[in-house]
Amino acid sequence: MNKLAIIALAGALAGCTAADKAGVVEKKPFGTTKYGEKATLYKLAGKDGLEMEVTDDGGKIVRLLVPDAKGEKIDVTIGFDSPAGWEKTDAYFGAIIGRYGNRIAEGKFTLDGKDCKVPVNDKAHAAALHGGDRGWDAYVWKAETFTKGDDVGIVFTKDFPDGEQGFPGAVKAKVTYTIAPGNVWRIEYEATTDKPTPLNLTQHVYFNMNGEGTILDQELMIAASKYLPVDKNLAPAGAPASVEGTPFDFRTFHKVGERIDAPDTVLQYGPGYDHNWCLDGEGFRKAAEFRGKARAVEVWTDQPGIQFYAGNFIDNTWKMKDGKPMCRRGWLALETQHYPDSPNRPGFPSTILRPGETYKTKTEYRFKAL
Ligand code: BGC
Repeated sequence: MNKLAIIALAGALAGCTAADKAGVVEKKPFGTTKYGEKATLYKLAGKDGLEMEVTDDGGKIVRLLVPDAKGEKIDVTIGFDSPAGWEKTDAYFGAIIGRYGNRIAEGKFTLDGKDCKVPVNDKAHAAALHGGDRGWDAYVWKAETFTKGDDVGIVFTKDFPDGEQGFPGAVKAKVTYTIAPGNVWRIEYEATTDKPTPLNLTQHVYFNMNGEGTILDQELMIAASKYLPVDKNLAPAGAPASVEGTPFDFRTFHKVGERIDAPDTVLQYGPGYDHNWCLDGEGFRKAAEFRGKARAVEVWTDQPGIQFYAGNFIDNTWKMKDGKPMCRRGWLALETQHYPDSPNRPGFPSTILRPGETYKTKTEYRFKAL
């Protein structure tokens, strides 16, 4: 037997080549939600090393293991050991967000002349946030795993009734996560409705590309020449404004901590980054990149905006999986989406889905070694 064959055989016997491990590697019970729904945990492994633990409870990411150049993997996200962990916090860690991601000011809007009211669950900012009292993150979805060529993934589907949280229209939703070659996590959203309704879906995953410490010395780029100034309730204060000369200019890489506490009134409302950037260009394009010491994530999307939230409200007393403590600004979220409060802003790109149309959007988190 030649040397190569011996190495291949040894790898096969040990069951430890990257390709051997790729696929849906585990499925097990994950506890029960406060609504009495039973959750399941799935472990997916991509052929190039990216591993994901995900639950059908809100499509929440539990672990994301990202390799460096030597193949050493670290977990770059926040998750918990069971649904109860999320229920003790209010930060939507790693969840599918719907029916309307981000804020709707005062929880009201007028659609085709009809006044609609949704719960003001973000009381501090007098707004409906991430879908209301019970958003799409807080339901167990139907889940089906798949492998297709070198792709491995999971499809979540769920029907939401007309009047859900006050929103008009029964919506059929489908969210597909795929781990594709090159350590790409692709998210595809699809939805239809039977009445006009606002729809703004996103994924609320958080990242710390070093897997520890704060994100303040990690570097961020956002491909946006404009951002949305906000008022003290984090609602858009008007039209998009230029980032030029402001702490919101991330067109070239800056450390997150470099200007996060700058004396800029709009920034201080965060307090710190918790704003929408209006992405340059159109179509599926690179929107952002976040770099740690040995790993980075690129964000690609077809959406007009991205909410960069620097984890300003993460509570130092919260604990995640394995009892690991969390800290303020220890992770950030780069949520691809439409602009906040769009249902009340005729000048912003529309978020209204109408019967007969199919909502279809795509975002990719592309992980790479540095
Ligand atoms: C919002 C923050 C909020 C966080 C967790 C982000 O999308 O912009 O203000 O605290 O989600 O809910």
